[in-house]
Amino acid sequence: RSVVLVKAEGVSINPDIRKSEDKVVDSVVVTELAKPNTAYCRCWRSGTFPLCDGSHVKHNKATGDNVGPLLLKK
Ligand code: FES
Repeated sequence: RSVVLVKAEGVSINPDIRKSEDKVVDSVVVTELAKPNTAYCRCWRSGTFPLCDGSHVKHNKATGDNVGPLLLKK
Protein backbone atom coordinates (compact mmCIF):
# COMPACT_ATOMS: atom_id res chain seq x y z
CA ARG A 1 0.00 0.00 0.00
CA SER A 2 1.30 3.38 -0.93
CA VAL A 3 0.06 6.49 0.84
CA VAL A 4 0.98 10.08 0.06
CA LEU A 5 0.63 12.23 3.15
CA VAL A 6 -0.20 15.89 2.72
CA LYS A 7 -0.80 18.34 5.54
CA ALA A 8 -3.28 20.86 4.19
CA GLU A 9 -6.77 22.13 4.87
CA GLY A 10 -9.48 20.21 3.01
CA VAL A 11 -7.35 17.13 2.33
CA SER A 12 -8.72 13.78 3.50
CA ILE A 13 -6.83 12.20 6.40
CA ASN A 14 -8.41 8.80 5.74
CA PRO A 15 -6.64 7.23 2.76
CA ASP A 16 -8.37 3.85 2.61
CA ILE A 17 -10.29 2.70 5.66
CA ARG A 18 -13.94 1.73 4.92
CA LYS A 19 -14.25 4.33 2.15
CA SER A 20 -17.59 2.84 0.98
CA GLU A 21 -19.24 4.24 4.12
CA ASP A 22 -20.53 7.83 4.32
CA LYS A 23 -19.15 8.13 7.85
CA VAL A 24 -16.95 5.73 9.76
CA VAL A 25 -18.32 5.45 13.28
CA ASP A 26 -17.35 2.86 15.84
CA SER A 27 -19.11 2.51 19.16
CA VAL A 28 -17.64 1.08 22.29
CA VAL A 29 -19.77 0.37 25.33
CA VAL A 30 -17.50 0.11 28.29
CA THR A 31 -18.69 -1.28 31.55
CA GLU A 32 -15.50 -3.15 32.28
CA LEU A 33 -12.33 -3.28 30.25
CA ALA A 34 -11.07 -6.70 29.26
CA LYS A 35 -7.54 -5.33 29.32
CA PRO A 36 -6.34 -2.57 31.65
CA ASN A 37 -5.41 -0.20 28.79
CA THR A 38 -6.72 -0.17 25.24
CA ALA A 39 -5.60 2.34 22.58
CA TYR A 40 -7.92 3.28 19.70
CA CYS A 41 -6.52 4.82 16.53
CA ARG A 42 -7.41 8.40 15.61
CA CYS A 43 -4.87 8.89 12.81
CA TRP A 44 -6.46 6.45 10.31
CA ARG A 45 -3.09 4.85 9.59
CA SER A 46 -3.28 1.77 11.82
CA GLY A 47 -2.95 -1.67 10.28
CA THR A 48 -5.11 -2.98 13.12
CA PHE A 49 -7.81 -0.26 12.94
CA PRO A 50 -9.73 0.61 15.09
CA LEU A 51 -6.92 -0.31 17.47
CA CYS A 52 -3.72 1.74 17.51
CA ASP A 53 -0.61 -0.07 16.28
CA GLY A 54 1.80 2.85 16.69
CA SER A 55 1.56 3.99 13.04
CA HIS A 56 0.77 7.53 14.24
CA VAL A 57 4.47 7.96 15.09
CA LYS A 58 5.47 7.57 11.41
CA HIS A 59 2.56 9.77 10.31
CA ASN A 60 3.55 12.51 12.76
CA LYS A 61 7.20 12.44 11.64
CA ALA A 62 6.22 12.58 7.96
CA THR A 63 3.67 15.39 8.28
CA GLY A 64 4.52 17.35 11.41
CA ASP A 65 1.10 16.33 12.69
CA ASN A 66 0.54 15.52 16.37
CA VAL A 67 -2.18 12.86 16.37
CA GLY A 68 -2.30 10.06 18.91
CA PRO A 69 -4.67 7.35 20.11
CA LEU A 70 -7.72 7.45 22.34
CA LEU A 71 -6.75 5.56 25.48
CA LEU A 72 -9.30 3.67 27.52
CA LYS A 73 -7.94 3.16 30.99
CA LYS A 74 -9.23 1.02 33.75
FE1 FES B 1 -3.39 5.69 14.70
FE2 FES B 1 -1.90 5.14 16.79
S1 FES B 1 -1.93 4.13 14.91
S2 FES B 1 -3.37 6.66 16.63
